[in-house]
Amino acid sequence: MNPRLAFAIISSACWSAFQHGYNTGVLNAPQAVMSEWLHKEVLSGTNLTLAAKDDPKVTTVWSVAVSIYCVGGMVGGVITGLVADRFGRKGGLLLNNILVFIAVVLQSFSKAANSSEMLILGRFIIGINSGLNAGLTPMYLSEISPVSLRGSIGTVYQLVITTTILLSQVLGLQAVLGTETGWPWLLAVPLLAALVQVFTLPLCPESPKFLLLNRGAELHAQRALNWLRGDVAVHGEMEEMHQEAEKNKISKKVTLTELFRKQQLRQPLLIAMVIMVAQQLSGINAVMYFSTDIFQTANLSKTQSQYATLGMGAMNVMMTLISLLLVEAAGRKTLLLAGFSGMLVTSVALCVAMLYTSVVWVSYLCIALVILFVVMFAVGPGSIPWFLVTELFGQSARPAATSVAVTVNWAANFIVGLSFLPLTHVIGSNTFIIFAVLQFLFILFIAFKVPETKNKTIEEITAMFRQQM
Ligand code: GLC
Repeated sequence: MNPRLAFAIISSACWSAFQHGYNTGVLNAPQAVMSEWLHKEVLSGTNLTLAAKDDPKVTTVWSVAVSIYCVGGMVGGVITGLVADRFGRKGGLLLNNILVFIAVVLQSFSKAANSSEMLILGRFIIGINSGLNAGLTPMYLSEISPVSLRGSIGTVYQLVITTTILLSQVLGLQAVLGTETGWPWLLAVPLLAALVQVFTLPLCPESPKFLLLNRGAELHAQRALNWLRGDVAVHGEMEEMHQEAEKNKISKKVTLTELFRKQQLRQPLLIAMVIMVAQQLSGINAVMYFSTDIFQTANLSKTQSQYATLGMGAMNVMMTLISLLLVEAAGRKTLLLAGFSGMLVTSVALCVAMLYTSVVWVSYLCIALVILFVVMFAVGPGSIPWFLVTELFGQSARPAATSVAVTVNWAANFIVGLSFLPLTHVIGSNTFIIFAVLQFLFILFIAFKVPETKNKTIEEITAMFRQQM
């Protein structure tokens, strides 16, 4: 690690993961004030004798505004490969800030314009931005990292997501910006992050691998590597890239259809897709989106629930930080298995405990279990999938594979977000049993199918899959 590499990590990951995390959490706290606005001012013709939260029109518009973010994320995922190949990793990230600007204008002025359509369209566009970030950033990070730090550096993406989810929840409190006049400002905060990126990222080089392997720009690639390593002696890494370049001449850029057809890519693609589905179907966002609700079911007051949610967010950040320190020593596979196993135990315990929430200590136990569930997620399932996908493929297939994986991730996120509440209405806290069963299946899959990639070069990892064939 050196100051320039750190600068490149911050300029890329911090401000792009900011969009992903902040916009995941931002509508959580101000739901009540924004619903009032929809109820009284936007949806004229709604029944004002009903409370905003009971008005079906309001709740429909609200769920669309919340969940369309994931649909945007899917679209961003689909175009990730194209953007990464056409504009480069850094170039793509920079351009992506245009979407932040458009989305912020739409969302923040939706109040002045009295338009729910603007709010919804803004959420969709910031979703596309976040989907692109989720693909481009881990790709850039993985391509600029030295092998021995690839996991820790890759974890930074998730660390910033968790921090900015927390930030959005704090800023969304009534005492800060979660008010009738404050929420348009709350939705404008992402613009600051975009501005910082637009001014700092241009100072960093494009990914050396992209320069050499995609553009054939030998000298530029070497200069980029010199810059990133703060060293002129980069022969070893250049040599490795050259070896990969040789292979690349034979196997040119992999298209989406080839990705599914080529036999040697089948196994890593399956792993990439399952690991993304596993991250989401573990149920993490059921807790992230609805924790305040869950805490209230466990008999906490509304204010207590909001603070418990903040505590949960803080634990998420702390554990992600610890996993950043652990991942190079313990390895990806171990942390994934430990995390999912912990989630499994917690889900089962939560399911049982939820039956007895009338007993005071049990309701506190429930809260502790929900927080433990998130902590276990942060051990590995939160951070590892993002960069594991970039480690499983060589340069030619990485963009297409990342595209597929990111799209799958957002699609699964969308499904959980949409189905959790209806499911709890039907089967109550048993919903967590569904998550537990899925977690069990994912543990088996990881144990038998996912290879350890720690301390291996991409060439070694892809060779491993070729040999398996
Ligand atoms: C991961 C998930 C995201 C979730 C977050 C919670 O980044 O992809 O959907 O909200 O973790 O920490």
